[in-house]
Amino acid sequence: MIETQAISKEVLAAILKGIDEGIHVVDLNGNTIFYNEIAAKHDGLEVSEVLGKPVLKVFPSLDEETSTLLKVIKTKTPIYNQTQSYVNVHGVQIETINTTLPITVNGKAAGAVEIAKDYSRLKLLSESLLDLQKKIKRPAKKTNKLKNVQYTLDSLLTINKEMQKIKKEAVKLAKSDSPILVFGESGCGKELFVQGIHHASSRTSRPFIAQNCAAIPESLLESILFGTAKGSYTGAVDRPGLFELADGGTLFLDEIHAMPIELQAKLLRVLEDGMVRRVGSPKNSQVNVRVIAAMNIHPGEALEQKQIRTDLFYRLNVLTFGLLPLRERAEDIDFLAKHFINQFNHSFNKDVKGSTKEILKFFNAYSWPGNVRELKHTIEYMMNVCEGDFLETEDLPVMMKQKLQAGFKGLPARRLSLRSSLEDLEKELIENALQQTDWNIKRASKLLDIPRQTLQYKLSKYKMNAHENGQISHS
Ligand SMILES: Nc1ncnc2c1ncn2[C@@H]1O[C@H](COP(=O)(O)OP(=O)(O)O)[C@@H](O)[C@H]1O
Ligand SMILES: [Mg+2]
Repeated sequence: MIETQAISKEVLAAILKGIDEGIHVVDLNGNTIFYNEIAAKHDGLEVSEVLGKPVLKVFPSLDEETSTLLKVIKTKTPIYNQTQSYVNVHGVQIETINTTLPITVNGKAAGAVEIAKDYSRLKLLSESLLDLQKKIKRPAKKTNKLKNVQYTLDSLLTINKEMQKIKKEAVKLAKSDSPILVFGESGCGKELFVQGIHHASSRTSRPFIAQNCAAIPESLLESILFGTAKGSYTGAVDRPGLFELADGGTLFLDEIHAMPIELQAKLLRVLEDGMVRRVGSPKNSQVNVRVIAAMNIHPGEALEQKQIRTDLFYRLNVLTFGLLPLRERAEDIDFLAKHFINQFNHSFNKDVKGSTKEILKFFNAYSWPGNVRELKHTIEYMMNVCEGDFLETEDLPVMMKQKLQAGFKGLPARRLSLRSSLEDLEKELIENALQQTDWNIKRASKLLDIPRQTLQYKLSKYKMNAHENGQISHS
């Protein structure tokens, strides 16, 4: 018994030593009982200087209120993902994201653990990017028109009627200053479309700046967007954010639904009055920026999942474009495949004439979860390995070849996509509930255990209508 305990203690110590996060554990009295090398590195201390000592002794700048470890012991409530920014005893600026959890043993409080992830390097990197952007931001000359963007709306190739309509509409609305919301699955051309709008707008000679809102810690995203003022925290310098850098131009906020909700409130205020305030500054300054936001899920879903604030959504929803996934515009598959073959013929100095019938059949049946991006990469790969005049099944990437060999041809395309299969299942369940309740939305939503509004949204999303004979149609 004692032996296994000793071993698991060693194993635990080895694991904690090996991980990337700083770990700090204190007992109920606030004495450190575990403190790893990474935590010591953050704090600029030796493990031995901290171990066994009261936290407040080792970190005299903290008190019962400001020490998250002591606070969690007192409140017994976890604190998640709190950013901390401080200068350690060696004068090094450290930025961490901390999660602090109470520890209970056999139902009794025993102490608290803090897990700290260092993102100083990430922060430094994005700040140097901001500085760089500031340096290259010069008023562009007329001849420099296209420098900011790679694409125009003409680069968006399509023979699908609905996409052509969207393109036409975009040309018309490009001149307006209202915010725009674009949604569509990943790879279906959102960024291309947004760049195209910027190019077609009167802002074309002004900056186009794109920022992905996913995967950036909240406090960092805030200072990237709004800038920082000197002294807002130790070591902060005066630095404009993307809103100021994009002045006169377009700011593209990709994956807006990943932006923390509180930050969305701040964004809404800028959209409303065009005033930005650097983090830590009392001053507002006026900017003239057109915001275009994008997301790869349906806005209805983002609202339902509370990933986007309703008020921000309505502000952005003035001009909304939904780009179709490739599988829903089958005619574009052949058309774009041909286009990419031509394009790569040019760059690879090849003369591929087209694709075999089998390939075209496969392409049409495939679900293309990565949309046009996936098609483009597939063609690029096949052009590299192809030896004959036509792209054939031999040239397919391994994964696709396997799908083809696994009797893929007979299956309806959408079965391969998790999302579509789930949607199919969802439709089936809704259909069932509606039939059982004679299309009584209220009772059907009860049966499905979802709010009535959610059911109504799903009905319109799937375009499900009641036929006179009580049958449901999907149009
Ligand atoms: N209609 C289209 N015509 C030509 N190329 C396209 C089209 N749609 C997408 N692409 C290409 O596919 C890739 C992915 O497009 P992108 O705009 O980045 O998609 P998203 O932002 O929706 O993920 C890019 O290389 C883009 O040039
Ligand atoms: Mg994109």
